[in-house]
Amino acid sequence: MTERTFRVWRGSGENGELTDYTVEVNEGEVVLDVLHRLQATQVPDLAVRWNCKAGKCGSCSVEINGMPRLSCMTRMSVFGPDETVTVTPMRTFPVVRDLVCDVSYNYEKAREIPAFTPDPKTSPGDFRMQQQDVERSQEFRKCIECFLCNNVCHVIRDHEENKEHFSGPRYLMRVAELEMHPEDTADRRQIAQDEFGMGYCNITKCCTEVCPEGIRITDNALIPLKERVADRKYDPLVWLGNTIGRR
Ligand code: SF4
Ligand code: F3S
Ligand code: FES
Repeated sequence: MTERTFRVWRGSGENGELTDYTVEVNEGEVVLDVLHRLQATQVPDLAVRWNCKAGKCGSCSVEINGMPRLSCMTRMSVFGPDETVTVTPMRTFPVVRDLVCDVSYNYEKAREIPAFTPDPKTSPGDFRMQQQDVERSQEFRKCIECFLCNNVCHVIRDHEENKEHFSGPRYLMRVAELEMHPEDTADRRQIAQDEFGMGYCNITKCCTEVCPEGIRITDNALIPLKERVADRKYDPLVWLGNTIGRR
């Protein structure tokens, strides 16, 4: 057992401050264990969101020493012996209290995406997919909705005003999944650009770096989606149709 300094954001809404605590840490523990010890021994009203403690529910997202991380999957052993561990709420979303954010922005963006639209002529059981199409969907479906990717993306992290027009990497990935799904009949390229803000993404890859599931969001979802949007934009037939349509 050792004693460590934990610096934790306390407060609600816009009003809050970092508060230092000295707390016991034992071998093998993760940051969430230590936050729970703080709750149990010193700050019973500390608000912390968590559920599975196994990296699978996506609830315990916070920023630890400035890095967006799951607190249940961040081992105390990654910090130096005298390093202060600073835990703050995700910066991109409004704080409800202490380490708990209001992440409803993400659910609103999820609801805006038109549902999977299979060909009505295909009967259940008739459709066959290539293995690579199955694997692509499976990779995207590993998402645990922790929203660390949306939290870290500079398009909304530093620009509140962009939230209305940008779905964030999590939901652009969903648009990409459906757009590349061989049985989805909807053309999602126009709405990816016009309604979900694909053009705001300048491929910084920060979303991919923080994803705890190791999903290659940028390379496997966002770049292919951008290529499809560009193909449509520069397709001579689409250009001709748009030009004639404008006359
Ligand atoms: Fe979290 Fe990764 Fe899903 Fe983004 S894509 S919400 S970082 S699991
Ligand atoms: Fe943002 Fe990821 Fe693009 S961090 S800018 S969505 S590559
Ligand atoms: Fe479920 Fe951390 S508590 S992912």
